[in-house]
Amino acid sequence: MADAFTFPVEPLTRAIEAIVGAGGSDAREARLVAENLVTANLLGHDSHGIGMIPRYVDALLEGGLEPNRHARATLDAGTLLALDGCKGYGQAIGREAMQMAIERAKRHGSCVMTLANSHHLGRIGHWAEMAVAEGLVSIHFVNVISHARVAPYGGRDARFGTNPCCIGVPLPGEAPFILDYATSAVAQGKLRVAHNKGEKVPPGRLIDDQGRPTDDPRYAVVPPYGAMLPFGEHKGSGMALACELLGGALTGGGTWHYGESTKQRVMNGMLTILIDPARLGTAPAFERETRAFLDWLRQGRAAPGFDKVRIAGDPEREYRAKRSRDGVPVDATTWGEIEKAAGKLKLDAAALRRLAEG
Ligand SMILES: NC(=O)c1ccc[n+]([C@@H]2O[C@H](COP(=O)([O-])OP(=O)(O)OC[C@H]3O[C@@H](n4cnc5c(N)ncnc54)[C@H](O)[C@@H]3O)[C@@H](O)[C@H]2O)c1
Repeated sequence: MADAFTFPVEPLTRAIEAIVGAGGSDAREARLVAENLVTANLLGHDSHGIGMIPRYVDALLEGGLEPNRHARATLDAGTLLALDGCKGYGQAIGREAMQMAIERAKRHGSCVMTLANSHHLGRIGHWAEMAVAEGLVSIHFVNVISHARVAPYGGRDARFGTNPCCIGVPLPGEAPFILDYATSAVAQGKLRVAHNKGEKVPPGRLIDDQGRPTDDPRYAVVPPYGAMLPFGEHKGSGMALACELLGGALTGGGTWHYGESTKQRVMNGMLTILIDPARLGTAPAFERETRAFLDWLRQGRAAPGFDKVRIAGDPEREYRAKRSRDGVPVDATTWGEIEKAAGKLKLDAAALRRLAEG
């Protein structure tokens, strides 16, 4: 599918801001949501960028997402912080939650923060980056209350969502390590694109409605649904379960244990662990060993088909450099869906496009 549009970053952000504002958010929240979504596109994660707007608008109209909510502390006791996201925009709730957790981690050396009932938190790496910018290690386990689309290892039925996990580590003297991915072998958004293009899916990603391996992405997109598989067989499956137990049960936000849902809202529960490496007494060793290890890693030769060894976070930085310069590509289907969503909030599609084009 050809990219139909390439939008400059700031005008695109203003267009998304206009939609979120029309949905009832105040100016601050509209800006936070728009910046967060456009940043995901800028970093190459289109599946978690502005293409989420139609679902957000439907969730708003259904009442599953509520504008202008704030994170509410249900426990604030030293290094322990428990928060309720009150069904608010994850882009605003996540930021408030991380600001509170960062403040406590700086005061006490660490913070364990649970966040329940937040609407979609988007790219989880966004939250790790906030903590890492303050010199903190940031670990996240997240569950998704939306649709069960992923089967456990050894199972034929979908039982949970794409439950992401993330680890951010500040690296002395260089850009941070930001490991951030869904525990499904492939993102659901990528399967939808493959289905639209009539492409096959590589082996090991999907099973059909009878539990048999398939390369046909329709089983992730239209009924009868099969299921996506976790990455890394039993290992990825175990991580997905850890996300459900820690992000869903431990936070109190809830786990997935329902049949098919028609609701458009996407709720996330997130366990976050922040550690201040400067407070552990190991800072000189952390700096020395990090440096030595990364030098050693990069002395390794690139495998055939690769130009070099990268660390997690590098691909996103490369995307950011390119798309900041060249603009954000948006395919025709995605932009059409965004215009349709804007129409539901009484915004004019042509005016919106002019705004996005700058
Ligand atoms: N909020 C939610 O409910 C939810 C659910 C699922 C996924 N997500 C988000 O979706 C986004 C995309 O997830 P995904 O599973 O498609 O990610 P992905 O498969 O693109 O993997 C991304 C990770 O792998 C690293 N990486 C990629 N190529 C690399 C290379 N060549 N060398 C070294 N490291 C490399 C990246 O730096 C990043 O850390 C993530 O930001 C995730 O948080 C959110």
